[in-house]
Amino acid sequence: MIICVCHNLNCRKVGEAIDNGASSPKEIQAFHGNQFQCGRCKPEMCARLREQKSLASATDTLVENAIA
Ligand code: FES
Repeated sequence: MIICVCHNLNCRKVGEAIDNGASSPKEIQAFHGNQFQCGRCKPEMCARLREQKSLASATDTLVENAIA
C-alpha cells in the first residue's frame, strides 16, 4: 500500500525507516532523502509509528516475562 504518493513510499519503506530509528513523519521522509510536499501522508505515518511502537513495547513485555 502506498502511504506517500508524492514520494512513492509504501508500507515497507515507512516501516524500514521506523526500524532504523525514525520517530516522526519528518524523520521517515528524511530517512529516504525526502521532505514533505503536500503532507497528506502525515496521519498515516503517525499511525504506523504508533503501531510499531506499541508492537515493540508488547514484544519487550513478552521477552521480560519470558526471562523472569
Ligand atoms: S503524500 Fe506524502 S508528501 Fe504528499
